[in-house]
Amino acid sequence: MNTHNGTLSVRVARIEAMTPEITRFTLVDPDGKHLPAFSGGSHVVVILEDGDKTHRNAYSLMSSPYDSSAYQIAVRRVADGRGGSRYLHERVAEGDLLQILQPANLFPLAKHGRQHLFIAGGVGITPVYSQLEELELKKASFELHLAVRGPGHIALGRELQERYGARVHLYVQGEDERMDISRILFGRPLGSHVYVCGPDSMIDDTIEGARALGWTDSHIHYERFVEQGSSGRPFSVTLARQGVTLEVPAEQSLLEAAEQAGYKVPYLCRGGACGYCETEVLEVDGELDHRDDWLSEEDKLGKRKFMPCVSRANCTRLVVDL
Ligand code: FES
Repeated sequence: MNTHNGTLSVRVARIEAMTPEITRFTLVDPDGKHLPAFSGGSHVVVILEDGDKTHRNAYSLMSSPYDSSAYQIAVRRVADGRGGSRYLHERVAEGDLLQILQPANLFPLAKHGRQHLFIAGGVGITPVYSQLEELELKKASFELHLAVRGPGHIALGRELQERYGARVHLYVQGEDERMDISRILFGRPLGSHVYVCGPDSMIDDTIEGARALGWTDSHIHYERFVEQGSSGRPFSVTLARQGVTLEVPAEQSLLEAAEQAGYKVPYLCRGGACGYCETEVLEVDGELDHRDDWLSEEDKLGKRKFMPCVSRANCTRLVVDL
């Protein structure tokens, strides 16, 4: 296995257009060795050197957790995004080498769930792929409800229907009835777990619908698409442990600016969701622009904590414990 500083070198073995926007990449070890094991719902971070920029984008693994010969990721092209998905779609070819970080899981299955219900929309299907595979091999009970935007976006859903038959319910916009989340959740046996990944409205409706039916929060799991990085007004920050002051430019997050300057900051999601980059604020003389979903409202008002992967500052002096 080709590892260097926690990164893996992988070769792009296959590129397939799955829908007008989503392309699937199959990644293998360049020497044909096994890749590290992972569990259903895991993601990898793909590191792309793009001129003087480095993109670090997280993508769910959609291959089987029981097959270490290859990883698969699906990448939705985001035309007005920060450039990582465009780079993968336009500049990466079969045979190219890519750098990725070892898999991490922020959306794991509930080990003792009696029944597993999945609700997904669009590219939100990608983490579900490996979860279903894990459940199938464990002979666990599951059902998938997947909404897609139209007949041209159906390929991944059809693939899952071929694998898992009637357990996969597809809702094609304009062709089928709308997905009724409350009906899906109603009357499920005790010990059921629901997992949702898709647009914010789908996640919010699932959480609210489940709570209204008496589900406990520990049985409701979701993964939001998080915008990675951030942009806004430039600001200065002093990294106290390093004894340096950095300028964070308009188009970068503090995390990205620190990495570019050669400093390591812990991270997993790079989108304000996982909590790994939580950093103590030692001094601030103005406002912090919190953009994460991790800190509580109380923490945000307290100005003692900060998530450098997305949050910014409107102040003349900011000192953090990095
Ligand atoms: S890396 Fe996940 S919250 Fe910052």
